[in-house]
Amino acid sequence: MSDATQQPKVLDRFTIATAEKFDGQIVKLQGWVYNKRSSGKIKFLVMRDGSGLMQGILFKGECSEKAFEEFEKLTQESSIRVTGKIRKEPRSVGGFEMGIQEIEVVQISEPYPISPKDHGVEFLMENRHLWIRSQKQWAALRVRAEIIHTIQEFFDNNGFVRFDSPILTPSACEGTSTLFSTPYFDEKAYLTQSGQLYAEVGAMAFGRVYTFGPTFRAEKSKTRKHLTEFWMVEPEVAFADLNDNMDLGEKFIEYVVQTVVSRRAKELQILERDLKKLEVIKGPFPRISYDEALKVLEKRGVAVPWGEDFGAPHETALGEEFGKPVFMHHMPAQIKAFYFKQTDSVGGPGVVGHGKYALGCDLIAPDGYGEVIGGGQREENYEVLRSRIIEHELNVEDYNWYLDLRRYGSVPHSGFGLGLERTVAWITGVEHIRETVPFPRMLNTLRP
Ligand code: 4AD
Ligand code: MG
Repeated sequence: MSDATQQPKVLDRFTIATAEKFDGQIVKLQGWVYNKRSSGKIKFLVMRDGSGLMQGILFKGECSEKAFEEFEKLTQESSIRVTGKIRKEPRSVGGFEMGIQEIEVVQISEPYPISPKDHGVEFLMENRHLWIRSQKQWAALRVRAEIIHTIQEFFDNNGFVRFDSPILTPSACEGTSTLFSTPYFDEKAYLTQSGQLYAEVGAMAFGRVYTFGPTFRAEKSKTRKHLTEFWMVEPEVAFADLNDNMDLGEKFIEYVVQTVVSRRAKELQILERDLKKLEVIKGPFPRISYDEALKVLEKRGVAVPWGEDFGAPHETALGEEFGKPVFMHHMPAQIKAFYFKQTDSVGGPGVVGHGKYALGCDLIAPDGYGEVIGGGQREENYEVLRSRIIEHELNVEDYNWYLDLRRYGSVPHSGFGLGLERTVAWITGVEHIRETVPFPRMLNTLRP
């Protein structure tokens, strides 16, 4: 293998994504063989370099004899350095092509297990470490990275301070039934289900914060929306009530969807995403109470008895009814976590004590992608919150630090969590959440 010493420094090098800057120049493309074909005396080499695909053309006369010989040896995914001239070609992928002069083989790939023919999902999942080189997988992960960037940009530009919460925690946030535990020296620790409780600490110190990181749930259900390890971004704002929280969620979602559509149209096209469906994702989003949602569900033939949580068919029906993301608020307190502020009547102020409804708000995405945001207003009264912890059979000792927030300058506050992978699934339009993260973790999926 020859080294790359004659190459420009990394940041100055040619990449397919920046081909426009190199129009008319002779460059070196370092990458892999995507596929190749011959048509008489002309040979076509589709190359990928991680930033995109580009077609290279070998003409007798323009390239060396040696390049023709090397071309014959190339197999799918062989690694190569190819020298040639960049020129505009509107009919080609990416709008540019390369007139190839030289081909340097770095390694001839062994027969590649993933070919353009259809493979079963099980096989593809076992080969996830290779599968992500395929166009659609690559595009979905590229969009994921853009979504992450855009999320951070939104909060950073709006006065939020990033506030990291721990992954190893002593206690539950979202109920004890989905906790992963691990020995922690002489005690037991749990993988965090949500950074929220720590984000509340941050909100009291910085006013507005967001946590962003992996969260874990021992979900035993096999659905297209559940992972056991997923990323969540969780803003938390002091002096914000339930309506403020929905206002923030609406601005945030509109910004993320519209920015990603404008920056990653090419990748979304590879994914065959209908962009018209995303271009309409602009506020205001409908806001309905849980009680109103029950009426909609009954009308649509998927009635739910009061007090029960919604499943996939119900979320899909709500999406169909509105064709836009819809906020549902004021859920039955009995199905919500211990930290929600409660109220007796929808639209009324929060009560001190216990009420029928939790001041929660979930955002349900259209097209069956389900709940992408879950959040609400937090209980800020010390006595009420303490009794709620006991009611939920949690160990008060573990929450003393959290209760302190209600003893030292307690204020009304709200926040939410956005599930990153569900958001990626919705924006990219991929069918299953396993394609939204490089290495999905699910029931029965721990490798590679
Ligand atoms: O509704 P959840 O459980 O809310 C919380 O964890 C709050 N503590 C967040 C907060 O207020 N700071 O989860 C929030 C979001 C869901 O709406 C969903 O998008 C995603 O996290 N989510 C999952 N995504 C993938 N796989 C799972 N198993 C998920 N569970 C929740
Ligand atoms: Mg939820």
